[in-house]
Amino acid sequence: MRDLLPEWVAVEVAEEDDYTAALLPEEEAALSARAVASRRREFAAGRACARRALGRVGVHGWPLTSAENRAPRWPDGVTGSITHTAGYCAAAVGLSARVQAVGIDAERRTILPQNIRATICLPEELAWCAQRPGEDWWPAVFFSAKEVVYKLWSPIVGTWLDFHDAHLTIDVEAGAFEARIGAKRLARTPGAPEVFQGRFHVAPGLVRSAGVVTA
Ligand SMILES: CC(C)(COP(=O)(O)OP(=O)(O)OC[C@H]1O[C@@H](n2cnc3c(N)ncnc32)[C@H](O)[C@@H]1OP(=O)(O)O)[C@@H](O)C(=O)NCCC(=O)NCCS
Repeated sequence: MRDLLPEWVAVEVAEEDDYTAALLPEEEAALSARAVASRRREFAAGRACARRALGRVGVHGWPLTSAENRAPRWPDGVTGSITHTAGYCAAAVGLSARVQAVGIDAERRTILPQNIRATICLPEELAWCAQRPGEDWWPAVFFSAKEVVYKLWSPIVGTWLDFHDAHLTIDVEAGAFEARIGAKRLARTPGAPEVFQGRFHVAPGLVRSAGVVTA
């Protein structure tokens, strides 16, 4: 994830040990007692990465609990993002003086079923994907980038955002995307950002995306 964000955002990617790292008592309480082993492992890895990233901006020993909307509760003066998918987990943290929001996402590079593609992508985005035969995984890139858009939108605006509320354009050569929020959603959320920018990387097994809104 380091390659997708400016150097003034602290980024940490999980090592094997992080998946079994100890949680602080408050974090333990935030993790549902019914959490299955795989959920415990990804939660622990996310917290371990976040702890290291927070340390790099000078915050130590912060218990990273979750808000009602499941977003992590970052300490005052700091904002961040966590992502996990099978075999990959990362956290990114920035100082609020410089970073209004940061969003990161990782997904397996899968070929999504038709109904899921249509849920995520607008018709014009599906048409763009259809022009890339043999690269049926592009909808997974749209999915990942739109998860980043939600992780940027949510802490700034504080409301829900549908997949069809964001129209993405992708610059394949630059590994960059731009998300333009639709007029209907903007009419309901005056003052919300209209455009988000981010970067992405596609490897055979993994799609990674990230974006930042500067303060
Ligand atoms: C919340 C959501 C974005 C998480 O994405 P995901 O690909 O399922 O999962 P990831 O592993 O990448 O991210 C999970 C982490 O995101 C963070 N997260 C959860 N809700 C969040 C929110 N509202 N805002 C910011 N971060 C959030 C948490 O840290 C979570 O990990 P944790 O529970 O271990 O702390 C997704 O589940 C979701 O609800 N999406 C629907 C909304 C959306 O994407 N709209 C598209 C708009 S264009």
